[in-house]
Amino acid sequence: MNLTFRQIQVFQAVARALSYTQAAQSLHLSQPAVSMQIKQLEENIGLPLFEQLGKKIYLTDAGQEFSNYSNQISHLVREADEVMQQLKGVQMGRLAVSVASTANSFATRLLADFAKQHENITISLDVTNRRGLLDQLASNETDIVIMGKPPEGLDLAIEPFMDNPLVVIAPPDHPLAQLDRVPMDSLQKETFVVREQGSGTRIAMERFFAEKGLGLTTGMEMTSNEAIKQAVEAGLGLGIVSIHTLELELETNRLVVINAANFPILRHWYLVHREGKRLSPVSLAFRDFVLQSTNENPAKGSL
Ligand code: PGA
Repeated sequence: MNLTFRQIQVFQAVARALSYTQAAQSLHLSQPAVSMQIKQLEENIGLPLFEQLGKKIYLTDAGQEFSNYSNQISHLVREADEVMQQLKGVQMGRLAVSVASTANSFATRLLADFAKQHENITISLDVTNRRGLLDQLASNETDIVIMGKPPEGLDLAIEPFMDNPLVVIAPPDHPLAQLDRVPMDSLQKETFVVREQGSGTRIAMERFFAEKGLGLTTGMEMTSNEAIKQAVEAGLGLGIVSIHTLELELETNRLVVINAANFPILRHWYLVHREGKRLSPVSLAFRDFVLQSTNENPAKGSL
């Protein structure tokens, strides 16, 4: 047999519709073109596949048998196509990641390492606060999100992958920075530069003070961790930030972490996506990559 896949597709269309005219319409071909394809196929096989009784056409026994095989062939070709797309996906797909502002620096590093392993993929990274991330998840605008624990009751798949300790920062010459142990009471007397409403860090710090029954005096409100660090450095108050936002500031001694009782506030980072969302191969590969890289890192929380 010397068949083409096109002939099989035409045969299937005619076998489904049991009409050359309708098959021609569904294939966007002329009716003579369809008849011609079937004629060639029958000559090739050496048996009639259709018979005409009155105005109607029917499958012959050979046509029925051939129909079963052609369905299997089509199924396999579709399956092969899906697998090829999946393979193409990891090599050449697109990845849309959204991360909490606080996760920005380590998430960018993870993405850079992932991109080195998958050179032809296109990555889009959006950085926003917790509220923005929840909105993006609700409107299905993103594949994967890195954020603090989302609220219960949403249809989200969540996987914790790394610790996220929140610490109190101060300029090195601050009186509390000189103490070995700062009791919680002393923090009540301080003013804190805080993140904007809708920030996960802000929610966590407010909840922490409320749970401990302590008053929290807030000063300036800032929409980024960078701005908080600069404000603290400039002496505008203390700050509470994730350890993941601090690196150079500690190394260069521009800021210090205060040894406050009950700190750090222990949070975690989560990989989040909509439950039931069909993650693309690249997204799945990225998820595995994040879980693996953070698992392999013995000092979780210092990535
Ligand atoms: P952020 O952090 O919104 O303060 O940037 C995210 C989170 O901790 O959920």
